[in-house]
Parts: sequence; C-alpha cells; structure tokens
Amino acid sequence: MSRSDTVTFILDGKLHSIRFDGSTAFKPSTTVLNYLRSLDNHKGVKEGCAEGDCGACTVVVASKGENGRLNYEALDSCLVFLPMIHGKQLITVENLKDTSYGPSGLHPVQDLMVTENGSQCGYCTPGFIMSMFALYKNYHNPSREVILDALTGNLCRCTGYQPIVNAAQKACQNHGKDHFSITEPQVEEMIASMEKSAADLVLSAMGQQYFLPASLDAALEIRERYPDAVLVSGATDVALRQTKKNEFFPVVVDLSAVRELRHYATEENPLTFGAAITLEQLKNLVRETLPALYDMLVVFGSLQIRNMATLGGNIGSASPIGDALPLLFAYKAKVRLHHKTKGERTLPIEEFITGYRQTALLPGELITQIIIPVPDKDTLIKSYKVSRRKDLDISTVSAAFALKLDKKGWTEEVILAYGGMAAKTQRATRTETFLLWEPWEEKQIHKAMKLVEEEFTPLSDARAHKEARKIAASNLLLKFYNDTGEKDSSL
Ligand SMILES: Cc1cc2nc3c(=O)[nH]c(=O)nc-3n(C[C@H](O)[C@H](O)[C@H](O)COP(=O)(O)OP(=O)(O)OC[C@H]3O[C@@H](n4cnc5c(N)ncnc54)[C@H](O)[C@@H]3O)c2cc1C
Ligand code: FES
Ligand code: FES
Repeated sequence: MSRSDTVTFILDGKLHSIRFDGSTAFKPSTTVLNYLRSLDNHKGVKEGCAEGDCGACTVVVASKGENGRLNYEALDSCLVFLPMIHGKQLITVENLKDTSYGPSGLHPVQDLMVTENGSQCGYCTPGFIMSMFALYKNYHNPSREVILDALTGNLCRCTGYQPIVNAAQKACQNHGKDHFSITEPQVEEMIASMEKSAADLVLSAMGQQYFLPASLDAALEIRERYPDAVLVSGATDVALRQTKKNEFFPVVVDLSAVRELRHYATEENPLTFGAAITLEQLKNLVRETLPALYDMLVVFGSLQIRNMATLGGNIGSASPIGDALPLLFAYKAKVRLHHKTKGERTLPIEEFITGYRQTALLPGELITQIIIPVPDKDTLIKSYKVSRRKDLDISTVSAAFALKLDKKGWTEEVILAYGGMAAKTQRATRTETFLLWEPWEEKQIHKAMKLVEEEFTPLSDARAHKEARKIAASNLLLKFYNDTGEKDSSL
C-alpha cells in the first residue's frame, strides 16, 4: 500500500487536510481538542479535565458503519489523536446551526436545551449538545436508560440533570432527520473517495514519528522495526500520559485503522474478537451470548470512552483494576498474538497477564484476537464492580465468578477472579479449592468468605483501605451465592 504524510478528514462539510511534512506546528499526536481550539471558528469545544471525565470536549465523529451508512459517535476530543479521525467526518457544535431551523438557526437538540432550561454555562453545554446530537442521530424516541447512558460522560455542576434529560427526550422524536441528513450522500461519497485512496500514514513532525497502518502486515512490520514505539488502539489509557503527565512519545504506532483487528466472528463457539474492536461495539455484540460481559460493559466508563476504548487496550494495559480482565479469567478466554517473523501464538489470558501492568507480550508482538468460549448452559458467570460512583468510575474492587454445579448441587467447577486485590488480576485459588466438590450452600460460603480475606493482601490507597477491600471481596462472594439461587434455576 502507498504511504501518505497527510491526515484528511471532513470538517465544515469540506475535506480538511493537515500535512505533517516538517512545516506544521503540530506534532501528529496533537489531540483533536487542541487542534480545534487552535482554529478561529471552532472554539465551542472546551477543555475541562483533559482526561475523559467531564465531556466538555465532546465532538461527534461520523464514519462508515457496518451497514454502509454513516455511524455517528460521541468522542472525548481531549483523548483523540488527530490521525484517529483520518478518513472520517468531524462534527463540532458550530456545525449544528442551520438556517433551515428558522430564525434562531438552532438544531432541535439546541432548541430543546434552551426551552427546557438545560443550560446555564457555556462550559459544559457544547459537550452536552454534542452527546445529545449523537443520540438524536442514532435513536428515535430513546428510552430513559438509553438517554442516561448517552449523557453519563458529561458533567454539569449547576443545572441538575433533569432539564437536560427532558431536552434530550423531547428532541429525539424525528428519526434523526436534520440538515445533516440532506448532506449525508455527499459525505458518504467523500468518505468513500478517501477510502479509495487509503494509504498507510507515516507522519513526522516536531520530533515525533507517527504510524497509522491500515493492514496487519504493515502494523507488524512497523512494530518489529520500532519495538520501543508507544502502541495505541483507542488511546483512552495512553493519551492521559500525554495530557496529564506531559510525556512525549518519539514514536507512536496507532492500531485503530488496522482492518483485521476490527474483525469478529460471533456465529461460532468460541467467539473471536479483533483486538481493536471498541468496547461499545463489543457490548452490542455480546448481549445474548456473554451476558455477564455485557453487564460489565454497561458500567464501563462512559459512552464516549467505550466508543474509543478497545478490548485489546484493556488487556494490553494489564491494570490490576482493568474491568474486562476478571471476566476474561472467568470465561477462560485466550489471547492470540502475532509477530512478523515468529508467526502467531495463543495464550490463556491468565498466562498473558504476568504482573502489575505487565504482560507476556514480546518485543515485536501485537495482540490480534481475543477468543472467548461461550460457557455451557449449566455454567453461571457473573461480574461485580465496586466503585465510589456507579457511573464513569474505575473499580475499587471488581470480581467475576464462574460456577458449575453437579446434579447434587455440589461444586463441579468454580473460578473466583478478582481485580483491585493484588498487583494484577488474580484468582482466589485456595478458596476455589476449598469450595470444589463441596455442597454449594450458605454455611460453606461463609467459611469461604474468611478464606478470601486471608488469601489477599491488597494495598490501601485513595480509593479504599486494604481492610475495606478485603470485606468488599468477601461480600461479593456472598452476593454471588445469593444471585446463583435467584438467577438460574438449573443451579
Ligand atoms: C474517563 C475514563 C474512564 C475509564 N473507565 C474505565 C473502566 O470503567 N474500566 C476499565 O477497566 N478501564 C477504564 N478506563 C481505562 C481505559 O479506558 C481502558 O483500559 C481501555 O480498555 C483501554 O483501551 P484503549 O484501546 O483505549 O487502550 P490504549 O490506551 O490504546 O492502550 C492501552 C495499552 O494497551 C496496549 N495495547 C493496545 N492495543 C494493543 C495491541 N493490539 N497489542 C498489544 N498491546 C496493545 C498499549 O500499548 C497500551 O499500553 C477508563 C479511562 C478513562 C480515561
Ligand atoms: S476535557 Fe474533560 S473529557 Fe475531555
Ligand atoms: S450548565 Fe455548565 S456546568 Fe452546569
């Protein structure tokens, strides 16, 4: 494939290019937020936190969806590197006004925000408007649950949320029709033409080299050539190193455009997911087959975060509080790795996670696929997250449990995987052994709860004291016991 040094996207209805040829004042990993704020006519977008927590920087990015039509996604522009919107349409709050809406020119979501008294300041409002706009384009008459999910990633410190929720509900009644609907065919054509001339991006400016390969072969080649490069998929972890710690990345390999890493196969068992599919995509794919994973993804970050964050990134981070990891342990998932010259290998997730933010990934390797077997109908899997807030918060303690009972109601198989209790995701193996081939009954669970507390030596930190973590971990086991009785009659 050919190479290009130019990031191209659609802005204000036209193709907009940034050439990284040494003359630009931006490094390639400049965030979309900072780039927009450098333009005279796009200052509606705001920086609140620069770490994905407030939503003041929300923009909408439209790209070609699986059905060939445009897919509108709200993203936190403070975490999006410019090359990540290559080939897509960037929509900002300035683009929402149009004369077709009458004298005010306000888009339905803006109009309802005004009439419902949903806005007091110019800081959070543009972000709310953009989340509401994505909701408007994607849903007709959405449920309250869908509206709340769409707005979880936006914080307001004054109006209270009810007027905003009301505005969203009243606005989204028009099957997504607006002035963007009229220009969609042209936008689709522009996106198709950018796709046709698709090239691997090789960007070099301000002392940084940034690679955006479009194929796995190209990604593996670059990965081998630059083993120390910073790898990114969704950047929801990596971008914070730049925005909050001022880290400079000399070489970046961005996997977000590698098509093979976006493939998935959900028709067969085991299910396979490309490492770069986003968590929101994953959530929508596993609702029926892996309900515990779906339940966990519902409380993962916010919609803006899930629209970017990937499963490969959650595994690659190997954070002791990474929410996908305990569940992947419970599902006995495997991770497929590729190397340009050494080929591929597959490891059980438990062998892949080796320590605090450490994995078995070798220099030159990439995580390419996650393989998740669908449990048999007699196995119950559930996950739990303890955090200080329900929404948009990382775990203090998390757990995922798998249980299979025999015909007598004795434990045939049990997995108790915990996050936030050790330097890495860890199973309570002594407690598992204690529970195995014993009756699954409350007396036994109470003994097992004591063992869970003894088995771990968690840290105290700003989120919780170590004793609180132990109590939470043992109580989650009791909760699981209570849930097994209720939820699955076969157990
Ligand atoms: C506001 C906010 C809320 C969050 N909420 C949660 C939450 O509720 N639960 C939770 O668990 N996490 C949460 N996170 C953390 C983060 O979103 C997740 O860890 C996410 O899954 C990371 O995925 P990513 O694609 O963005 O990773 P990136 O930032 O792109 O990468 C993360 C790491 O994985 C490596 N990596 C990525 N892809 C590959 C690959 N294919 N092969 C090898 N290595 C790879 C990278 O090199 C990097 O070290 C939150 C983050 C933010 C900013
Ligand atoms: S500035 Fe707060 S989420 Fe981006
Ligand atoms: S209206 Fe802006 S913070 Fe609430």
